[in-house]
Amino acid sequence: MADADAQQRNEQLVSQLESSGCLRDPAVASAFRAVLRHHFLPGRPLEEVYEDSAIMTKMGDKGIPVSSSSQPAIMSIMLQQLQVKLGHRVLEIGAGTGFNAALIAHLVGRDGHVVTVDIDADLCEQARANLATAGVEGVEVIQADGADGWPPAAPYDRMILTVSASDLSPKWLDQLVEEGILVVPLALAGPIQQSVAFVRRGPSLVSSDVTTCGFMPLRGQMAPPPHVADSGLEPWLQGPEQPSGYVLPAADLRAGFESWLALTQNAYFRPRLRAEDAPVFGLRGAGGAALVVPEDDDYPVLVFGDGDGPAAALTAAHRAWAQTRPQVDQLSIEAHMMGGEVPTDATVRTVRRPHFTFMITTPS
Ligand SMILES: C[S@@+](CC[C@H](N)C(=O)[O-])C[C@H]1O[C@@H](n2cnc3c(N)ncnc32)[C@H](O)[C@@H]1O
Repeated sequence: MADADAQQRNEQLVSQLESSGCLRDPAVASAFRAVLRHHFLPGRPLEEVYEDSAIMTKMGDKGIPVSSSSQPAIMSIMLQQLQVKLGHRVLEIGAGTGFNAALIAHLVGRDGHVVTVDIDADLCEQARANLATAGVEGVEVIQADGADGWPPAAPYDRMILTVSASDLSPKWLDQLVEEGILVVPLALAGPIQQSVAFVRRGPSLVSSDVTTCGFMPLRGQMAPPPHVADSGLEPWLQGPEQPSGYVLPAADLRAGFESWLALTQNAYFRPRLRAEDAPVFGLRGAGGAALVVPEDDDYPVLVFGDGDGPAAALTAAHRAWAQTRPQVDQLSIEAHMMGGEVPTDATVRTVRRPHFTFMITTPS
């Protein structure tokens, strides 16, 4: 009876994902129909489990969530980016409840192999128990820091992170076959994240698909450096600031202008003006910046220090964006391992991280 209710609720959820257009691949849809999410969220009410929402499952110190069952919509989008085929060997980093690993196990079939790693032993134990309850076989759950990948079962045809990274590990590339796909929630500009499907081409990775997402960050060796509040670092941030006379429409902010600016401008800057305030954003120069500082319902561009040049650049970037309102999904990203050859062709933005250099280009 409970299972019939769960089946019915699951069918409603999957149909909703299909009609919204985010779930299009028949193989991924059939995985979502075959694997029931409530087996991976024991004790949770079915009405909560079969909502299209992320469900927090573990809180860390300071009340910050460290594990969750991701939102089904983004799970379906990322599994489609991953293009899993029967017989594939797949590594997932971020086992959590084991639900995504179970979906992947369905996609690889009996001849495939799935390894999922999580940094927390208690989560691995729970994921194993959930997989057993759901009757899913063929998933190895390993407690490890995913920064190292999992060499004993390498190489992999596919690799997916369900936790965000601000750089890539060279070990992921080493453990991925040539033309293999890595799907990773990548944070290249402040908190803004894209789920990027990268195809391995020798020592580099080239994006085949980019979509907006939001995941908790990796812990362990590849945890992002602690946030340094920019407030107080630059004396000119203390003001006095001047109005530039340019005001951004609130609708353009909702339509993704900041994400576009962040991924296309090397001078993108996201400081806090005071430690207790929310960050603001804009472009910086050597001795000043132009920042969008919300005032009531307005988004005026203010000039800090010697920020006339950045203000002109920000205004020009906004005017250009407003013509066609491009979205970050249209960007291409290449990742080149440090120490290797980095192409010098013109790109709109280069992000250098300890292991990889990322080159972002707009569509031609
Ligand atoms: C959003 S949850 C994953 C959801 C999961 N795929 C599911 O279907 O339930 C992110 C997971 O990444 C794990 N994690 C964080 N840092 C990690 C690391 N360095 N190595 C492996 N797992 C990590 C967390 O413990 C957490 O369980």
